[in-house]
Amino acid sequence: MINQLRASVASIQARAPGFVPEVALVLGSGLGFLGDECQNAVSIPYGEIGHFPVSTAPGHAGRLVLGELGGKRVAVMQGRFHYYEGYDTATAAYGVRTLRLLGAKTLLVTNAAGGVSEGLEPGVILNITDHIKFFDESPLRGENIPELGTRFPGMSYTYTPELRHKARLAAQELNIPLYSGVYMYFPGPQYETPAEIRAAKTLGADAVGMSTVPEVIAAAHAGMEILGFSLICNMAAGLQTHELSEQEVLDTAEKSKGQFSQLIIKCLEEM
Ligand code: HPA
Repeated sequence: MINQLRASVASIQARAPGFVPEVALVLGSGLGFLGDECQNAVSIPYGEIGHFPVSTAPGHAGRLVLGELGGKRVAVMQGRFHYYEGYDTATAAYGVRTLRLLGAKTLLVTNAAGGVSEGLEPGVILNITDHIKFFDESPLRGENIPELGTRFPGMSYTYTPELRHKARLAAQELNIPLYSGVYMYFPGPQYETPAEIRAAKTLGADAVGMSTVPEVIAAAHAGMEILGFSLICNMAAGLQTHELSEQEVLDTAEKSKGQFSQLIIKCLEEM
């Protein structure tokens, strides 16, 4: 895999010679628009990056944007790869590993999620403090890649405390309410059942979703600092009176765009 990753890095470098990102930004369902706000941008469709997977999920453009945002050099993944698309978790993490090898030391990751805890209603932003992943394999399964990290990486400080502190200050300054809590990973693509959500709540989940954790594990393995946000797009299964739908998720993402991008840009400025 390291040779494929290096080839991917080389094909990105060929399109943006000398560009070394400070922050890798992964944008979730309906949140890809932030990539369009980059200045001096070079945009590369995933299909034009050697060995890169292609995203098939709704609301995921499938482009890498290299440019500047919030005063930082950023590499923005407009769209990610999910286990539910048929990829294994190592493939889900492929983009983040590529951007690490391109030079990014920080990962800012976002997703659309269902709210489990009280107060986590549609439109609310959650700063991820920790995660729970009991399902499907680790993206690190198989031969270790020593160029990236160690065989048995610790996950105790995965969501970098200093970055979370800066995020809280940024939200305060902008007067945007910011919750913090635990994101629980489900493989999808079906939404959870009400019983699964009750179990998740008992286990300590504040929000649930189908992404992010594979990338975060790979980023932590590779020594990246990590800041994660969930945009709560719906109350989780059983906590609302109608069936969940992808449209509801995308509609909330669309409505909350303004606040969400303000917060992300401010966090980049403060990093
Ligand atoms: N569950 C899982 N993934 C999600 C949800 C949800 O309720 N909302 C948005 N993504």
